[in-house]
Amino acid sequence: MAEAVEYLGTKSKFWYRDGERQMLFKAEERGTGEDWAEKVACELCALLGLPHVWYEMAVDINEMRPGVVCGSITPPPLALVHGNQLLLKLDPNYPAESRHRYRTSEHTVPAVFEVMTRLQPPTPGWCPDLPSGVDSAAGIFSGYVMLDAWIANQDRHHENWAAVWNGDTLHLAPTFDHGASLARNLSDEERYERLETRDRGRHISHFAGRARSAFYADRTSSQPLSTFDAWRSFAGLVPNESRRWLKRLEAIETADVQWVLDQVPPDRMSSICRRFTLDLLMENQRRLLDRRKP
Ligand SMILES: Nc1ncnc2c1ncn2[C@@H]1O[C@H](COP(=O)(O)OP(=O)(O)OP(=O)(O)O)[C@@H](O)[C@H]1O
Ligand SMILES: [Mg+2]
Repeated sequence: MAEAVEYLGTKSKFWYRDGERQMLFKAEERGTGEDWAEKVACELCALLGLPHVWYEMAVDINEMRPGVVCGSITPPPLALVHGNQLLLKLDPNYPAESRHRYRTSEHTVPAVFEVMTRLQPPTPGWCPDLPSGVDSAAGIFSGYVMLDAWIANQDRHHENWAAVWNGDTLHLAPTFDHGASLARNLSDEERYERLETRDRGRHISHFAGRARSAFYADRTSSQPLSTFDAWRSFAGLVPNESRRWLKRLEAIETADVQWVLDQVPPDRMSSICRRFTLDLLMENQRRLLDRRKP
Protein backbone atom coordinates (compact mmCIF):
# COMPACT_ATOMS: atom_id res chain seq x y z
CA MET A 1 0.00 0.00 0.00
CA ALA A 2 1.51 3.30 -1.10
CA GLU A 3 1.99 5.80 1.72
CA ALA A 4 3.57 8.66 -0.22
CA VAL A 5 4.54 9.51 -3.77
CA GLU A 6 8.19 10.36 -4.49
CA TYR A 7 8.17 13.27 -6.95
CA LEU A 8 11.93 13.65 -7.43
CA GLY A 9 13.34 11.97 -10.53
CA THR A 10 11.58 11.09 -13.75
CA LYS A 11 10.05 7.70 -13.00
CA SER A 12 6.84 6.92 -11.17
CA LYS A 13 7.67 5.99 -7.57
CA PHE A 14 5.98 5.51 -4.21
CA TRP A 15 7.02 4.86 -0.63
CA TYR A 16 5.51 2.00 1.37
CA ARG A 17 6.31 0.19 4.59
CA ASP A 18 7.69 -3.32 5.08
CA GLY A 19 7.43 -3.81 8.85
CA GLU A 20 9.51 -0.99 10.28
CA ARG A 21 11.38 -0.38 7.03
CA GLN A 22 10.57 2.50 4.69
CA MET A 23 10.67 1.11 1.15
CA LEU A 24 10.54 2.70 -2.30
CA PHE A 25 8.89 1.12 -5.36
CA LYS A 26 10.28 2.44 -8.68
CA ALA A 27 8.05 1.52 -11.60
CA GLU A 28 9.38 0.39 -14.97
CA GLU A 29 6.57 1.78 -17.10
CA ARG A 30 8.32 2.52 -20.35
CA GLY A 31 9.38 -1.01 -21.21
CA THR A 32 13.01 0.07 -21.50
CA GLY A 33 14.48 -2.45 -19.07
CA GLU A 34 15.30 -0.09 -16.23
CA ASP A 35 14.26 -2.76 -13.75
CA TRP A 36 16.79 -5.38 -14.80
CA ALA A 37 19.45 -2.72 -15.38
CA GLU A 38 18.95 -1.45 -11.82
CA LYS A 39 19.17 -4.96 -10.38
CA VAL A 40 22.17 -6.05 -12.45
CA ALA A 41 24.02 -2.84 -11.58
CA CYS A 42 23.25 -3.48 -7.89
CA GLU A 43 24.82 -6.94 -8.09
CA LEU A 44 27.86 -5.53 -9.90
CA CYS A 45 28.25 -2.93 -7.13
CA ALA A 46 28.30 -5.84 -4.68
CA LEU A 47 31.01 -7.62 -6.70
CA LEU A 48 33.14 -4.47 -6.57
CA GLY A 49 32.47 -3.83 -2.87
CA LEU A 50 30.94 -0.39 -3.44
CA PRO A 51 28.58 1.13 -0.85
CA HIS A 52 25.27 0.88 -2.73
CA VAL A 53 21.52 0.79 -2.36
CA TRP A 54 20.22 -2.77 -2.52
CA TYR A 55 17.53 -3.23 -5.19
CA GLU A 56 15.25 -6.20 -5.80
CA MET A 57 13.10 -6.77 -8.86
CA ALA A 58 9.43 -6.42 -8.02
CA VAL A 59 5.87 -6.17 -9.29
CA ASP A 60 3.27 -3.69 -8.06
CA ILE A 61 0.37 -6.12 -7.84
CA ASN A 62 -2.23 -3.35 -7.57
CA GLU A 63 -1.43 -2.21 -11.09
CA MET A 64 0.57 -5.21 -12.33
CA ARG A 65 3.53 -2.97 -13.16
CA PRO A 66 7.09 -4.26 -13.03
CA GLY A 67 9.76 -2.30 -11.19
CA VAL A 68 12.30 -2.48 -8.40
CA VAL A 69 12.15 -1.94 -4.65
CA CYS A 70 14.78 -0.66 -2.24
CA GLY A 71 15.02 0.39 1.39
CA SER A 72 15.37 4.05 2.28
CA ILE A 73 18.89 5.41 2.70
CA THR A 74 17.51 8.00 5.07
CA PRO A 75 15.05 6.68 7.65
CA PRO A 76 14.23 9.49 10.12
CA PRO A 77 15.99 11.43 11.52
CA LEU A 78 18.46 11.19 8.60
CA ALA A 79 18.05 13.45 5.56
CA LEU A 80 19.34 13.25 2.00
CA VAL A 81 21.20 16.28 0.61
CA HIS A 82 21.62 16.02 -3.16
CA GLY A 83 24.74 16.95 -5.11
CA ASN A 84 23.18 20.16 -6.45
CA GLN A 85 22.55 21.45 -2.92
CA LEU A 86 26.07 20.54 -1.81
CA LEU A 87 27.55 22.31 -4.84
CA LEU A 88 25.36 25.35 -4.13
CA LYS A 89 26.85 25.61 -0.64
CA LEU A 90 30.33 25.96 -2.14
CA ASP A 91 29.28 28.17 -5.03
CA PRO A 92 26.25 30.45 -4.53
CA ASN A 93 25.97 30.75 -8.31
CA TYR A 94 25.65 27.01 -8.90
CA PRO A 95 22.46 26.41 -10.96
CA ALA A 96 20.97 24.02 -8.43
CA GLU A 97 17.40 24.55 -9.63
CA SER A 98 18.22 24.22 -13.32
CA ARG A 99 15.74 22.02 -15.11
CA HIS A 100 18.48 20.79 -17.43
CA ARG A 101 20.16 18.33 -15.14
CA TYR A 102 22.29 16.83 -17.90
CA ARG A 103 23.47 20.05 -19.48
CA THR A 104 24.90 21.70 -16.40
CA SER A 105 28.47 22.60 -17.33
CA GLU A 106 29.02 23.81 -13.75
CA HIS A 107 28.81 20.11 -12.75
CA THR A 108 32.59 19.81 -13.10
CA VAL A 109 35.02 17.21 -11.85
CA PRO A 110 36.97 19.77 -9.71
CA ALA A 111 33.76 21.14 -8.14
CA VAL A 112 32.41 17.68 -7.26
CA PHE A 113 35.83 16.67 -5.94
CA GLU A 114 35.87 19.77 -3.74
CA VAL A 115 32.54 18.66 -2.23
CA MET A 116 33.94 15.16 -1.65
CA THR A 117 36.90 16.52 0.34
CA ARG A 118 34.36 17.95 2.81
CA LEU A 119 32.26 14.79 3.26
CA GLN A 120 32.80 11.88 5.59
CA PRO A 121 32.78 8.43 3.99
CA PRO A 122 29.48 6.49 4.11
CA THR A 123 28.74 5.13 7.58
CA PRO A 124 30.21 1.65 8.30
CA GLY A 125 26.91 -0.18 7.71
CA TRP A 126 27.19 0.75 4.01
CA CYS A 127 30.82 -0.35 3.76
CA PRO A 128 31.09 -4.06 4.53
CA ASP A 129 33.58 -4.73 1.72
CA LEU A 130 35.65 -1.66 0.82
CA PRO A 131 39.11 -2.40 -0.61
CA SER A 132 41.76 -1.81 2.04
CA GLY A 133 43.23 1.66 1.70
CA VAL A 134 39.99 3.14 0.34
CA ASP A 135 38.59 5.19 3.17
CA SER A 136 37.91 8.76 2.06
CA ALA A 137 34.65 10.01 0.53
CA ALA A 138 36.59 11.12 -2.59
CA GLY A 139 38.24 7.71 -2.93
CA ILE A 140 34.90 5.94 -2.56
CA PHE A 141 33.23 8.30 -5.03
CA SER A 142 35.97 7.51 -7.57
CA GLY A 143 34.66 3.93 -7.31
CA TYR A 144 31.17 5.18 -8.24
CA VAL A 145 32.65 6.91 -11.29
CA MET A 146 34.53 3.73 -12.28
CA LEU A 147 31.26 1.82 -11.95
CA ASP A 148 29.62 4.35 -14.29
CA ALA A 149 32.31 3.72 -16.94
CA TRP A 150 31.95 -0.05 -16.52
CA ILE A 151 28.14 -0.13 -16.78
CA ALA A 152 27.83 2.80 -19.22
CA ASN A 153 25.82 4.85 -16.75
CA GLN A 154 25.17 8.25 -18.32
CA ASP A 155 22.91 9.37 -15.52
CA ARG A 156 25.18 10.57 -12.66
CA HIS A 157 23.68 14.06 -12.71
CA HIS A 158 23.64 16.28 -9.63
CA GLU A 159 20.55 14.63 -8.13
CA ASN A 160 21.96 11.13 -8.59
CA TRP A 161 24.65 11.46 -5.95
CA ALA A 162 24.14 12.79 -2.47
CA ALA A 163 25.17 13.03 1.16
CA VAL A 164 23.36 11.83 4.27
CA TRP A 165 22.90 14.47 7.00
CA ASN A 166 22.50 13.16 10.55
CA GLY A 167 22.04 16.57 12.15
CA ASP A 168 25.75 16.86 12.80
CA THR A 169 27.83 15.39 9.97
CA LEU A 170 27.52 14.89 6.21
CA HIS A 171 28.42 11.40 4.97
CA LEU A 172 28.65 10.41 1.31
CA ALA A 173 25.48 8.45 0.44
CA PRO A 174 25.74 4.99 -1.08
CA THR A 175 25.50 4.93 -4.88
CA PHE A 176 21.92 4.73 -6.22
CA ASP A 177 19.80 5.04 -9.39
CA HIS A 178 21.62 2.99 -12.04
CA GLY A 179 18.52 2.11 -14.07
CA ALA A 180 19.60 4.16 -17.09
CA SER A 181 22.75 2.10 -17.64
CA LEU A 182 23.84 -0.99 -19.60
CA ALA A 183 22.38 0.40 -22.84
CA ARG A 184 19.13 -1.09 -21.56
CA ASN A 185 16.95 0.82 -24.03
CA LEU A 186 18.47 -0.53 -27.26
CA SER A 187 16.20 -2.73 -29.34
CA ASP A 188 17.12 -6.40 -29.66
CA GLU A 189 17.52 -5.85 -33.42
CA GLU A 190 20.18 -3.24 -32.78
CA ARG A 191 21.86 -5.43 -30.17
CA TYR A 192 21.98 -8.32 -32.60
CA GLU A 193 23.39 -6.16 -35.36
CA ARG A 194 26.10 -4.70 -33.13
CA LEU A 195 27.09 -8.17 -31.93
CA GLU A 196 27.29 -9.66 -35.42
CA THR A 197 28.44 -6.79 -37.65
CA ARG A 198 31.77 -6.70 -39.44
CA ASP A 199 31.46 -2.93 -39.74
CA ARG A 200 33.81 -1.53 -37.06
CA GLY A 201 31.79 1.67 -36.79
CA ARG A 202 28.72 -0.31 -35.73
CA HIS A 203 30.55 -2.77 -33.49
CA ILE A 204 30.06 -2.93 -29.74
CA SER A 205 33.64 -1.74 -29.12
CA HIS A 206 32.91 1.49 -30.97
CA PHE A 207 29.50 1.81 -29.31
CA ALA A 208 31.05 1.40 -25.84
CA GLY A 209 33.31 4.40 -26.35
CA ARG A 210 30.39 6.74 -26.99
CA ALA A 211 28.88 6.76 -23.47
CA ARG A 212 28.74 10.29 -22.02
CA SER A 213 28.88 11.17 -18.35
CA ALA A 214 27.07 14.12 -16.74
CA PHE A 215 30.44 15.62 -15.63
CA TYR A 216 32.29 18.45 -17.37
CA ALA A 217 36.04 19.08 -17.36
CA ASP A 218 35.40 22.76 -16.61
CA ARG A 219 32.49 25.15 -16.79
CA THR A 220 33.47 26.51 -20.19
CA SER A 221 33.33 23.04 -21.81
CA SER A 222 30.61 22.68 -24.40
CA GLN A 223 30.41 18.87 -24.07
CA PRO A 224 30.27 16.61 -21.05
CA LEU A 225 33.15 14.18 -20.55
CA SER A 226 32.85 10.60 -21.74
CA THR A 227 32.26 8.16 -18.89
CA PHE A 228 35.88 7.02 -19.32
CA ASP A 229 37.36 10.51 -19.25
CA ALA A 230 35.27 11.33 -16.17
CA TRP A 231 36.77 8.27 -14.47
CA ARG A 232 40.29 9.22 -15.57
CA SER A 233 39.84 12.72 -14.19
CA PHE A 234 38.56 11.53 -10.80
CA ALA A 235 41.16 8.75 -10.68
CA GLY A 236 43.90 11.33 -11.24
CA LEU A 237 42.77 13.16 -8.10
CA VAL A 238 42.83 10.05 -5.87
CA PRO A 239 45.38 7.82 -7.64
CA ASN A 240 46.03 5.34 -4.84
CA GLU A 241 42.39 4.66 -4.05
CA SER A 242 41.41 4.43 -7.70
CA ARG A 243 44.12 1.80 -8.30
CA ARG A 244 42.50 -0.29 -5.57
CA TRP A 245 39.16 -0.08 -7.39
CA LEU A 246 40.79 -1.22 -10.62
CA LYS A 247 42.23 -4.21 -8.80
CA ARG A 248 38.72 -5.11 -7.66
CA LEU A 249 37.47 -4.78 -11.23
CA GLU A 250 40.32 -6.90 -12.53
CA ALA A 251 39.37 -9.74 -10.17
CA ILE A 252 35.87 -10.00 -11.66
CA GLU A 253 35.62 -12.81 -14.19
CA THR A 254 33.29 -13.29 -17.13
CA ALA A 255 31.60 -16.15 -15.27
CA ASP A 256 30.79 -13.84 -12.32
CA VAL A 257 29.03 -11.38 -14.62
CA GLN A 258 27.34 -14.16 -16.59
CA TRP A 259 25.99 -15.58 -13.34
CA VAL A 260 24.43 -12.24 -12.42
CA LEU A 261 22.81 -11.88 -15.85
CA ASP A 262 21.53 -15.46 -15.73
CA GLN A 263 19.49 -14.67 -12.60
CA VAL A 264 17.25 -12.17 -14.43
CA PRO A 265 13.95 -13.86 -15.35
CA PRO A 266 13.73 -14.54 -19.11
CA ASP A 267 10.52 -12.51 -19.50
CA ARG A 268 12.42 -9.42 -18.34
CA MET A 269 15.60 -9.92 -20.41
CA SER A 270 15.92 -11.71 -23.76
CA SER A 271 18.85 -14.02 -24.51
CA ILE A 272 20.22 -11.58 -27.09
CA CYS A 273 20.02 -8.81 -24.51
CA ARG A 274 21.93 -10.99 -22.04
CA ARG A 275 24.64 -11.69 -24.63
CA PHE A 276 24.97 -8.03 -25.60
CA THR A 277 25.08 -6.86 -21.97
CA LEU A 278 27.80 -9.37 -21.15
CA ASP A 279 29.87 -8.25 -24.15
CA LEU A 280 29.40 -4.58 -23.26
CA LEU A 281 30.54 -5.17 -19.67
CA MET A 282 33.55 -7.24 -20.70
CA GLU A 283 34.51 -4.66 -23.35
CA ASN A 284 34.28 -1.80 -20.82
CA GLN A 285 36.20 -3.81 -18.22
CA ARG A 286 38.96 -4.45 -20.75
CA ARG A 287 39.10 -0.77 -21.72
CA LEU A 288 39.27 0.35 -18.09
CA LEU A 289 42.09 -2.07 -17.32
CA ASP A 290 43.98 -1.30 -20.58
CA ARG A 291 44.05 2.36 -19.70
CA ARG A 292 46.16 1.54 -16.67
CA LYS A 293 49.11 0.90 -18.94
CA PRO A 294 51.18 3.98 -19.82
N1 LIG B 1 16.81 4.35 -1.37
C1 LIG B 1 16.48 5.63 -1.27
N2 LIG B 1 16.50 6.25 -0.06
C2 LIG B 1 16.16 7.56 0.05
N3 LIG B 1 15.79 8.32 -0.98
C3 LIG B 1 15.75 7.76 -2.20
C4 LIG B 1 16.10 6.38 -2.41
N4 LIG B 1 15.97 6.12 -3.72
C5 LIG B 1 15.56 7.26 -4.30
N5 LIG B 1 15.41 8.24 -3.40
C6 LIG B 1 14.96 9.63 -3.65
O1 LIG B 1 14.15 9.65 -4.80
C7 LIG B 1 14.81 10.40 -5.83
C8 LIG B 1 14.54 9.74 -7.16
O2 LIG B 1 14.99 8.39 -7.12
P1 LIG B 1 15.86 7.80 -8.31
O3 LIG B 1 17.00 8.73 -8.57
O4 LIG B 1 16.18 6.40 -7.98
O5 LIG B 1 14.74 7.86 -9.46
P2 LIG B 1 14.70 8.19 -10.98
O6 LIG B 1 13.30 8.55 -11.30
O7 LIG B 1 15.30 7.01 -11.65
O8 LIG B 1 15.62 9.43 -11.17
P3 LIG B 1 16.24 10.04 -12.53
O9 LIG B 1 15.24 10.97 -13.06
O10 LIG B 1 17.46 10.69 -11.97
O11 LIG B 1 16.57 8.90 -13.43
C9 LIG B 1 16.28 10.42 -5.44
O12 LIG B 1 16.97 11.51 -6.00
C10 LIG B 1 16.17 10.50 -3.93
O13 LIG B 1 15.88 11.81 -3.54
MG1 LIG C 1 17.55 9.85 -10.02
